[in-house]
Amino acid sequence: MTDSFKALLATETDDGVSVDFTDLETDALPQGNVLIDVAYSTLNYKDGLALNGNKGRIMRNLPMVPGIDLAGTVTQSDSSDYAVGDAVVVNGWGLSETAWGGYSQKARMKSDWLIKIPAGIDIRQAMAIGTAGYTAMLCVMALEQMGMGPDSGEILVTGAAGGVGSVAIAILAKLGYSVTAATGRAETHDYLKDLGAANLIGRDELEEDSGRPMDKPRWAGAVDTVGGDILSHVLKAISPFGSVAACGNAAGLKVETTVLPFILRGVNLLGVNSVFCPVPRRVEAWKRLVTDLPLDKLESMTEVVPFADVLGLSKEILKGQVRGRIVVDVNS
Ligand SMILES: NC(=O)c1ccc[n+]([C@@H]2O[C@H](COP(=O)([O-])OP(=O)(O)OC[C@H]3O[C@@H](n4cnc5c(N)ncnc54)[C@H](OP(=O)(O)O)[C@@H]3O)[C@@H](O)[C@H]2O)c1
Repeated sequence: MTDSFKALLATETDDGVSVDFTDLETDALPQGNVLIDVAYSTLNYKDGLALNGNKGRIMRNLPMVPGIDLAGTVTQSDSSDYAVGDAVVVNGWGLSETAWGGYSQKARMKSDWLIKIPAGIDIRQAMAIGTAGYTAMLCVMALEQMGMGPDSGEILVTGAAGGVGSVAIAILAKLGYSVTAATGRAETHDYLKDLGAANLIGRDELEEDSGRPMDKPRWAGAVDTVGGDILSHVLKAISPFGSVAACGNAAGLKVETTVLPFILRGVNLLGVNSVFCPVPRRVEAWKRLVTDLPLDKLESMTEVVPFADVLGLSKEILKGQVRGRIVVDVNS
């Protein structure tokens, strides 16, 4: 009897990296003390970079199964913390960078990396949330840690129609915040309103530089998923003692600022790293997602696609053409 299964495998070639579907055997899985039948993975911006990037940009060890997210059922376990049949999610911890990831029907993982899917959501919903949704929750928690609450004032979400942005809007609206969604796609306005955005602005408005070190305060806080010039400009327009949770770089890596927003307005720039986030904060974030993210909104932002579609969609996400969350059914 064969235990072969389907996976996407990145290998080194003379020209760089080749990523192709292949059949693997369980013995080929490199690391970990828990074996998982993967049900779903997801597509995130970082997966787009991994699947289309140059050698070494995201995936640092080849051959490598990419995919920064996975969820499924434990089928073998050498850990007392996990039993056969447990539904688990794994994200971060270097998946698709230094460790094999989720674009595979089976995965062997370190038990320290697993989180039991909390009661209230199933395996598919856990992947509809995925790294993007869990990062959105970490951003909201970072703002809260600085004292932000629904009465603080308007919150800006950039890259609004993307995965992190969509989930951030749905969470913030459910918690009672008034949310301004900034998007480059006017055709997503109805979608963003349905998620709970009270106000909509064009991305171009944030791309223009006023030339001043600070602008009139507009937002009490922001969840910034794009970085670059947009983050540079948003920092100038945050109200005194407000905060920006920054997690992304879709608009660029470089941020230019003066110290004035920080020293004259007491603005806080909060970095969010989902990959190596400590376990207790992860567990808290996943619990909070169950209570603070409305499942009907999650469904409305999620599309489930067959495994074969992931390569094509990975190009679209880099062009900013994917809306909301993409769940990859690795068994279809
Ligand atoms: N720090 C962490 O741990 C962490 C975790 C997860 C994700 N991230 C990062 O967060 C970002 C969002 O991830 P995601 O998976 O949600 O990606 P996504 O679904 O592709 O969303 C990104 C959104 O950014 C906007 N955008 C795209 N290209 C842009 C450009 N050139 N200039 C300005 N805006 C642009 C688009 O929104 P509109 O069409 O609405 O304008 C797009 O939908 C990525 O940079 C990702 O690497 C970081």
